[in-house]
Amino acid sequence: MRRDTRPYFIRRLRDSFSKWQVRQFLEPQFDSVGPGLDVAYPQGVELWGANIHAGSHLHLRAAKGNMIRLATWDSGDRVGEIHIGDFVLISPGNQIIASERITIGSNTMIASGCYISDSDWHDTYDRTAEQDKHAPVTFEENVWIGSRVIVGKGVTIGKNSIIGAGAVVTRDIPANVIAAGNPAKVIKELDPDREFRLRSDMLGDSEALYHEIDKLSRYLLRHNTLFTWVRSLIKPTRRD
Ligand SMILES: CC(C)(COP(=O)(O)OP(=O)(O)OC[C@H]1O[C@@H](n2cnc3c(N)ncnc32)[C@H](O)[C@@H]1OP(=O)(O)O)[C@@H](O)C(=O)NCCC(=O)NCCS
Repeated sequence: MRRDTRPYFIRRLRDSFSKWQVRQFLEPQFDSVGPGLDVAYPQGVELWGANIHAGSHLHLRAAKGNMIRLATWDSGDRVGEIHIGDFVLISPGNQIIASERITIGSNTMIASGCYISDSDWHDTYDRTAEQDKHAPVTFEENVWIGSRVIVGKGVTIGKNSIIGAGAVVTRDIPANVIAAGNPAKVIKELDPDREFRLRSDMLGDSEALYHEIDKLSRYLLRHNTLFTWVRSLIKPTRRD
């Protein structure tokens, strides 16, 4: 498809159904979740285990064939925990899996296809057990994790820092830097005196933003009719 062929009212119906799915099936799976949870493709989000907490305005952007999985593991003597701050973005294909504790600071953005875990899950010599191959992972505020990054046990990523696409992060990364590579190393310093524009600046008034987006989609879909939409589903052309 080259464009959205749905009439505006079908799009609104779809959005309402999606919101209902989130309220009915996803929200109850969090131990706590703040207002403004916004989920694209809710059936592509899987929560597993206890102790999963999120603040306000969490945006989960799953996609067909690109699930988001947030999971905590119960090892018998300990249950993992995931703590997500406010205004966090988690993109398609992310796996965030805690044996001990993973903390994601407010305004953090995590791009597609990352694997973030606080455990190796198997001991070096006793492959049947985890032993002590786990340590908490912390992202401070306003961290940006690029596509297909892997973050391992015991890592702290400092405030405002960026991790370049494809990096493997095995050691702490300080605040206000860009780090990349395997293993990730600092490649640039950021200027901490410059003002950062944050997700919370954009989404703080989410009602107003929602109305603006709704107005835009009403305008963009204004020529779509039920007939052309159904026709595009059963007999698509190059213009659909
Ligand atoms: C990390 C990133 C933001 C840095 O961008 P930048 O500040 O413009 O950096 P530059 O392109 O100037 O690169 C600086 C150096 O780091 C290297 N570098 C940059 N990104 C790298 C990466 N992901 N892995 C390894 N090296 C990298 C460059 O090759 C360059 O090396 P050189 O000085 O030896 O030539 C960018 O490279 C990146 O990874 N972007 C992807 C972001 C993403 O995943 N977005 C998805 C949507 S959220």
